[in-house]
Amino acid sequence: MYSDKVMDHFTNPRNVGELENPDGVGEVGNARCGDIMRIYLKVENDVIVDVKFKTFGCGAAIASSSMATELIKGKTIDEALLITNKAVTQALDGLPPVKLHCSVLAEEAIQKAINDYKEKQKNKLGA
Ligand code: FES
Repeated sequence: MYSDKVMDHFTNPRNVGELENPDGVGEVGNARCGDIMRIYLKVENDVIVDVKFKTFGCGAAIASSSMATELIKGKTIDEALLITNKAVTQALDGLPPVKLHCSVLAEEAIQKAINDYKEKQKNKLGA
C-alpha cells in the first residue's frame, strides 16, 4: 500500500522537532481526521536555512511533513511557496488516494509558515 520512501520517511522522519526563535511558524489541521502539523522555519536573506516539524497525525502525514521539510530546505521562500502537495507526493513515490489529503497538510503548513515569516518581516520593517 505504501512506497518504500513513505515507509522510510515514516519510520525515520527527517527534521523532527522545534526551532527556538523561529522566523516563521505554520500550523494547520484537518478537521475530519483531527491531525495537526506544525512547521518551523529559520530564514536568512529569504533562504530557508533550517526547518523542523511536529506532526500529530497519521503515518502519511508524518512522511509528507518529513519529505516537505527536505524539499524546502535551502530553497528561497519563493521557491518553497511553489511546492505543492503533488510535488511532495511525487517525491514520496505516491500516496494511496485516501491519503492524499495528508500531503495537502504539508503544503498548507509550509505556506502558512512562509506567510507568518512575511508578516513578521513587515512588522519588523514597520517598527
Ligand atoms: Fe489525517 Fe493523514 S489521516 S493527515
